[in-house]
Amino acid sequence: MGGSELRFLAPFRGEVLDVPPIWLMRQAGRYLPEYRATRAEAGDFLKLCYTPKLAAEVTLQPIRRYGFDAAILFSDILVVPDALGQAVRFVEGEGPRLDPIRSADGVSRLTLAGAVSKFDVVAETVQRLRQDLPHETALIGFCGAPWTVATYMVQGQGSSDQAEARLWAYRDPEGFEGLIDLLVAASIDYLDRQVKAGADCLQIFDTWAGSLPDDEFDRWVVKPTKTIREALRELHPDVPVIGFPRGAGATAVWYVSETGVNGIGCDTATPPFVMSEAFDEEDVVVQGNLDPLLLVAGGEKLDERVDEILDLMEGKRFIFNLGHGIVPQTPPENVGRLVERVRSKG
Ligand code: CP3
Repeated sequence: MGGSELRFLAPFRGEVLDVPPIWLMRQAGRYLPEYRATRAEAGDFLKLCYTPKLAAEVTLQPIRRYGFDAAILFSDILVVPDALGQAVRFVEGEGPRLDPIRSADGVSRLTLAGAVSKFDVVAETVQRLRQDLPHETALIGFCGAPWTVATYMVQGQGSSDQAEARLWAYRDPEGFEGLIDLLVAASIDYLDRQVKAGADCLQIFDTWAGSLPDDEFDRWVVKPTKTIREALRELHPDVPVIGFPRGAGATAVWYVSETGVNGIGCDTATPPFVMSEAFDEEDVVVQGNLDPLLLVAGGEKLDERVDEILDLMEGKRFIFNLGHGIVPQTPPENVGRLVERVRSKG
């Protein structure tokens, strides 16, 4: 599995590198013409996720272009509800659509046993990648955090306030917990299969972690993530897990100490002093946090900010990334400029 000598994993072993490892969230995607071509070949977005040959191809595309230190498995966080039996559709230009689940009755129609065959298709993509990736490139597996995945399952689509999931959680916490518990079990099984197939590292995407206040944040974000992290530590003690609790703000430090994640993904709004100091007492690698829109803007503004982040994180266990995913209007040459800038330092 190449494992221990991978440059990407050095910060998790406690090493500080002169040039930090770099990968970018959504590094495979619509900003790349070759992605758009493969996507057109697949037709449907989920078909792309469930066709190992094509999913592996789009995973490799940004590695060929930029030589990132890590590839991220091409899939989607909504593969999990789809596999559990809540059919997911991606509507062109609009995003995901699901028939909403808002009661324990709806949860009872989902099954983990039924999900296994779709999880295994994704694991097959991982196996292919293990064969096809350059030896120096790490492979990151992932899932959505139970809270974030639940917000889509309950709302039936993306939303700016995640209102339906928050309301269900307030009105009927026991019922909502049934959904979260199912997602915890599914996520453990799904990530376990990804590691067995060859993933070197895992990331848990909690895009909507910032929509919950204190006790709710603890119950629906921290506790489920901790359960997943502990289960994986039992199964695969050496595989690091990065948490990305977007919008967690000041509670990100507590999230780290409670969940036991090995890496913390900082979002775009995380202030420099938090990135460079707030996690000092924790045994954790910091990852982040360039504004994805600076990658659209490009030019000297981009260079300046990259330099600021590198200076700020010098001497720290750090992985360079964005604060959220690459957006489709990003000029590919700006990504090249960024990678070159990071690598020319040190
Ligand atoms: O390169 C990578 O980062 C790996 C692949 C990946 C995708 N989605 C591909 C994708 C990963 C890790 C995700 C995670 C994901 N998916 C998240 C969490 C991270 C985040 O961005 O906040 C969320 C919330 C989703 C759910 C999702 N998937 C939405 C809301 C949408 C529609 C919005 C959009 O950008 O179109 C998707 C679709 C999706 N997932 C695309 C890609 C490349 C675009 C689909 C297309 O090709 O038409």
